[in-house]
Amino acid sequence: SPAHLADLVVFGGTGDLSMRKLLPALYHSDRDGRLAPETRVIALSRGGLTDADFRGKVDAEVRDSVPIDDLAVWERFLGRLHHVSVDVGGENRSGWGTLAGMLAEYEQRDRVFYLASPPRTFGPFCREVHEAGLVTPRSRVVLEKPLGQDLSSARRINDEVGAIFDERQIFRIDHYLGKETVQNLLVLRFANAFLEPIWNSLWIDHVQITAAETVGTPGRRGYYDHAGALRDMVQNHLLQLLTLTAMEPPARNDREAIRDEKVKVLQALRPITGGEVDRFTVRGQYTGAGDMPGYLDEPGSTPPTEASGRVETFTAIRAEVKNWRWAGVPFYLRTGKRMPYRRSEIVVQFKDVPHSIFPGGAPNRLVLRLQPEEGIELHIMAKEPGAGEVTLKPVPMSLSFGKTFTARVPEAYERLLTDVLAGNPTLFMRRDEVEAAWRWIDPILDAWKAGDALPEPYPAGTTGPAGAHELLGRSGRAWHEEE
Ligand code: BG6
Repeated sequence: SPAHLADLVVFGGTGDLSMRKLLPALYHSDRDGRLAPETRVIALSRGGLTDADFRGKVDAEVRDSVPIDDLAVWERFLGRLHHVSVDVGGENRSGWGTLAGMLAEYEQRDRVFYLASPPRTFGPFCREVHEAGLVTPRSRVVLEKPLGQDLSSARRINDEVGAIFDERQIFRIDHYLGKETVQNLLVLRFANAFLEPIWNSLWIDHVQITAAETVGTPGRRGYYDHAGALRDMVQNHLLQLLTLTAMEPPARNDREAIRDEKVKVLQALRPITGGEVDRFTVRGQYTGAGDMPGYLDEPGSTPPTEASGRVETFTAIRAEVKNWRWAGVPFYLRTGKRMPYRRSEIVVQFKDVPHSIFPGGAPNRLVLRLQPEEGIELHIMAKEPGAGEVTLKPVPMSLSFGKTFTARVPEAYERLLTDVLAGNPTLFMRRDEVEAAWRWIDPILDAWKAGDALPEPYPAGTTGPAGAHELLGRSGRAWHEEE
């Protein structure tokens, strides 16, 4: 049956991610019949809440954002929720006993431990849950990002978690992999015949991967000062999009076959080190504009420090995949906070026609939009109607998922939670993938840290610092902006 019987234990279960993403996704799964009737959601926190307190909190904070279309389902969903207080790393072990008692009621169920908590808690949590005797062969653990700060901390976390759970039990989340267009990219590439022959350096000039956000970082300084756009978005989300765009066709639609191909792409990334870092990477930080505060003036619980001044809220990178298919094709990556629009997309820019007989042509472009509106657009050249001179115009052949399919497009977390409850790890990052990504990121972080330069300022609400435009401009290219 599609609904797999499992108990879901969420550490950090009353936190922001849980309230904003996980619980709404679980409600939708419940409504669509993807949760087994007996599945329980057990939130763990230090909060000392009763089940009733927790249900009341969820009712008050989540109900409006879902939105509820079926009150009976909502009531049923609230009935699945429980809360247990645990003090990971603390003296008080009584919470583990309570949890053990609850889980023992249904010994035969799968158990999913979802760690929606900072990465420093991953190791201690796994150790304690193991000491409490709660890890069964049918248990899984889900790790939220960020998985470490760099390669060595990622390895340490992977070792700590790996001491308790087998790799096949470990599910590392990158929520971009749960997005509809991202999964569609594989279908587009590997279920259609016409693209594959031209999906290479003979036909493709370059690829752009953009994740632009309008939001700033209010209230997140504590995290963001030590993350920055490179760790927060590139190491995971953007590199995942790059691997799916660049990977070789796997022989099977199979968890390991797909992840094997993805990791090969990461291993083929040309390292950017030392003096090259300045040439191939750009950093920016937003400054106040209009009623938008600059990064340093964002409201938050802690005042800005030296680290705040050095952290990038925008980055652009020229990457290269050194293999037969992609030699010489730049992959430009860009992400930033407080940009003028919210848009995530992959743009595949084809080369010019080999010989042009019409004036005014432009090369073809394939745009895969992840958000705000999922869709795929192929820009082709067409003749503008008219009896006069031939005039060319690019016209988009477009597939809007919202218009073509009537089914609701599920949120990324719905797909990922469904997969994790069913034990399917295809859309989760394997240890070698995460570490290969860090191996490429580390030298960039090191060079940034070693230099005196600060990120280039860009006014909030703009497309990033001048350097980002020069990165493409110096080879006669430009970022794709909405027409
Ligand atoms: C998260 C980052 O992983 O992704 C956030 O930590 C970012 O900083 C978010 O805002 C973007 O996700 P989405 O789904 O809105 O593109």
